[in-house]
Amino acid sequence: MRKRIAIFASGSGSNAQKLMEHFKHSDDAEVSLVLTNNADAYVLQRADNFEIPSHIFDRNELYNTENVLILLKNLDIDFIVLAGFLWLMPENIINTYPGRIINIHPAILPKFGGKGMYGDKVHRAVLEGKESEGGITIHYVNNQYDEGEYIYQAKYKIEANDTLEVVKFKGQQLEHLHYPRVVESLVKKLKK
Ligand code: GAR
Repeated sequence: MRKRIAIFASGSGSNAQKLMEHFKHSDDAEVSLVLTNNADAYVLQRADNFEIPSHIFDRNELYNTENVLILLKNLDIDFIVLAGFLWLMPENIINTYPGRIINIHPAILPKFGGKGMYGDKVHRAVLEGKESEGGITIHYVNNQYDEGEYIYQAKYKIEANDTLEVVKFKGQQLEHLHYPRVVESLVKKLKK
């Protein structure tokens, strides 16, 4: 039986797109739902293009009601993937999906992580820190920003004249290459 994946995303959703493409013809899993806190997020359009249902929630719904958890349960979601999701996962979802929620972060954690470290802010900090390498981290999600156990890390080299766009591109290439394959290897091991 194909495992059912839900993606949480707040923005463009290029990683979500790669996941939707990857699992479109997979025997192991499918992307069954896309959730966002942002009604203008381009990820909603991407979900539509794949005819994947989506759900928009606000802070109150996520943190003060069981609605989102009930939706995940009603749709038989087995695994949750954060792909550029800005908010913390609420306790009720974390407790219901132990070891079944993962995130991707555009830096080699533990450096350049934590609250407010998101997207371009991370790349800017990496450049300002005069790092010789950037990278990505895929990790389990707990109730702190960017703090769960690491699953996979990959690095790229930063050249002296690399701009924000260049490091962002290098990071994205790694994310798009590795996130679908790491998600696949994890969902394959899941017992339904
Ligand atoms: C990705 O680079 C992801 O690593 C980052 O947001 C971007 C979303 O891009 N996530 C974080 O910074 C989490 N702290 P996308 O919407 O194009 O997939």
